[in-house]
Amino acid sequence: MAEEHYSRAKNSTMQSQSAFEPKEFVENQIQQIRNQLGKERALVAVSGGVDSSACAALVYQAIVNNLLCVILDDAFMREGEPEKVANLLSQPPLNLPIKILNVKKRFLTEMKGLRDAEEKRKVFRETFYNILSETAKGEGIRYLVQGTILADIMETAGGVKTQHNVLSQIGISTEERYGFQLVEPLKTLFKGQVRKVARYLGLPREIAERQPFPGPGLSVRVVGEIRRDKLESLKKATAIAEEKLAKHEPSQYFAVILDNVEKPHGAQELQIELLTTDFLKVSPSQVSVTIFEDKATGVREGKRIYGKISALKVLTNKGDIHQPDIQSLIDLQTRIVTENPVMTRVFYVIREKSPRQPYVVAVRAVKTEDFLTAKVADIPWTTLNEIAEEILTTCGNVSAVYYDVTPKPTATIEME
Ligand code: XMP
Repeated sequence: MAEEHYSRAKNSTMQSQSAFEPKEFVENQIQQIRNQLGKERALVAVSGGVDSSACAALVYQAIVNNLLCVILDDAFMREGEPEKVANLLSQPPLNLPIKILNVKKRFLTEMKGLRDAEEKRKVFRETFYNILSETAKGEGIRYLVQGTILADIMETAGGVKTQHNVLSQIGISTEERYGFQLVEPLKTLFKGQVRKVARYLGLPREIAERQPFPGPGLSVRVVGEIRRDKLESLKKATAIAEEKLAKHEPSQYFAVILDNVEKPHGAQELQIELLTTDFLKVSPSQVSVTIFEDKATGVREGKRIYGKISALKVLTNKGDIHQPDIQSLIDLQTRIVTENPVMTRVFYVIREKSPRQPYVVAVRAVKTEDFLTAKVADIPWTTLNEIAEEILTTCGNVSAVYYDVTPKPTATIEME
């Protein structure tokens, strides 16, 4: 059922992408935007991702200086990102008029103490739109432009996630709630088509070819409660993982951080240990399994669920970490989640350090065409070891680094 849902979506993506003509699309949209906005001004929040940047560039062509672009520096962007993005977009050939709004404190205060992933997403969305609403009102602007794409709408409507930028499609009236009307010129496009539009509009390569970064940013990669020290370590781990993984060209690659708090060892851990022993042909004393207290999102039958996160550690006879080929770990993961449907993630340890620290990091790298399904990227152990080594040295409060060997579905791409 889930496979059917995703393969239908995938087929339609492939067909529509090959026939797509960016020039014609852009010209039609410019006309439509002019018809819709007339002499009105509009506000757009850009993150530097291909969707919001292409959208802003497109609307700028239609209404030029009637467009105000803002970057919400919300504490969840990567190191140095707001400035880098503002710099790229405000230079020729785009020359977008950009303002950075420093709203870090407000987001951190609103999100403080929240643990539940869905609640965090909702609070993020509310804070995000409240700030945009206040900014628009302050400027006398009645239109908000956003780069929502078809996958965002399909996944929110289909129950896969609460996307930060999908509102009217789930029954929220933006006019009543926030006082603006939405303009969403990319909402019929898939990611590949948006990249074509971005290249056609002359966006810099760093943006047109950039890997996706979620609207709620690093907040969906801090599993459980967001704390400053946890977020700081995630920013460092993200920079290391991105730098070392880029050469392998996964479709999306990043780090996540979670509390190093595990459930008491019980029957499920034991069952997974036995399964791992049998699958990897090692002795039981070489295998240990942890199930974390926090949960992560996954997909079952096309719907979003919250499931358990397990981490496997297998040692060699000499006591080093056993590093079998990644494909066999993916196969092992399939057996584990088949026999334990409450499990949405399987991590495999790359490196650990002692004494025990409050956090662990997981590295994720996936290959995908449409982001509706994704395979785990076969990253060489040398790269994984380098990443883990550097993260453990740089982040004092992290005691283990794992590789996430779960495809989508079972897991989602992001952790929350
Ligand atoms: P998931 O985690 O649902 O992600 O498998 C699929 C793709 O969507 C991105 N993503 C988001 N993008 N706002 C966004 O703009 C969001 O709330 C959001 N959540 C996930 C994710 O990075 C991946 O590329």
